[in-house]
Amino acid sequence: MYYNWKEQTNTEELKIVCNLIKNGELVVFPTETVYGIGANALDANAVGKIFIAKGRPSDNPLIIHLADKRNIEDIAQNITEVEQKLIDNFMPGPFTIILKRKDIVPDIVTAGLDTVAVRIPNNIIAKAIITFSGVPIAAPSANISGKPSGTNIEDIRKELEGKVSAIVDGGKTDIGLESTVVKVIDEVPVILRPGKVTPDDIKNVIGKVKLDEKVFKKVDEDENIESPGMKYRHYSPEKPCQLIYCENELDQIFYMNKFINLYNKNVVVIGSEEYKEKYNISKDRFINIGTKNNLDQIAQNIYSAIREADKLEAEIILIEGVKKEGLGIAIMNRLLRTCGYNFFEK
Ligand code: TXA
Ligand code: MG
Repeated sequence: MYYNWKEQTNTEELKIVCNLIKNGELVVFPTETVYGIGANALDANAVGKIFIAKGRPSDNPLIIHLADKRNIEDIAQNITEVEQKLIDNFMPGPFTIILKRKDIVPDIVTAGLDTVAVRIPNNIIAKAIITFSGVPIAAPSANISGKPSGTNIEDIRKELEGKVSAIVDGGKTDIGLESTVVKVIDEVPVILRPGKVTPDDIKNVIGKVKLDEKVFKKVDEDENIESPGMKYRHYSPEKPCQLIYCENELDQIFYMNKFINLYNKNVVVIGSEEYKEKYNISKDRFINIGTKNNLDQIAQNIYSAIREADKLEAEIILIEGVKKEGLGIAIMNRLLRTCGYNFFEK
């Protein structure tokens, strides 16, 4: 079923949706980052359905979503001072913390790890569904495994209708990129997946922060990594992609045009409006992701732009990069994976 709660949460429908969760069914719901496919986190059978619906590898663990900080102790234990400080400062919000798990959490959620990922979304619909279901909700991003995360309801319906029991429409997601995932290792917060909460935000609170070295690197299947999600092909369209970023504006225009010509203009370009007229390509082959001076806007649009580009006839998708700073770290982390690490940088 499809439920439209863009304007307002419907209380009758909320009951239906929460009953579905309680009864072990799957529900797609919005959060402030991206949409999630939710199931009762304490019901191993229900969680198993998520892996089937997404085609997700079973060794990639899920995030458990809670409505309130008081519930963290239900699923996690031995919370350290640094972890507590992160919880106090960044939750609810676009922030996920990896904590020592309690036995109540089924193995299928954590992929057998002794830790559990916990997040408290800051979104009215997400909060209502978690609260009234009365159970913690395991939810990965709403997309088939390997595809860009669902941020826009049309894309989600096309991809997941028939695979889940309900889809709740809360409009376009605010942030557009998945939460920042952090694990505290030897009292240092280590960012396993960058997001809207930036390294500086964390440093300002804790005094120290580390960006996992794999954030901008290709990870091999058999490598030992902190977060299993790092090793999989991600956020990717069907077409090949090339990421291009030059700090200097003239270089950016020059090299993008060089790539455009290399493919005899049989390309789609995803880029900022500043360069729309400068890239040597017709308007119908250019997808505008907003101004390059507003990274929030780019983050919000990026996944739907990639999906839109994939629908057009072209040999390759050329994507304009951003500076790896602030939210730009998260944008470039995702784009590098989208492009399978095909990155031209100057
Ligand atoms: O914003 C978000 O985080 C969205 C919304 C729906 O909340 N969810 C999301 O979930 O992006 P998913 O499953 O697409 O990504 C979860 C990431 C994966 O990279 C996974 O490997 C990592 O978190 N993860 C989960 N549990 C972990 C654990 N115990 N240790 C390390 N990494 C973990
Ligand atoms: Mg995902």
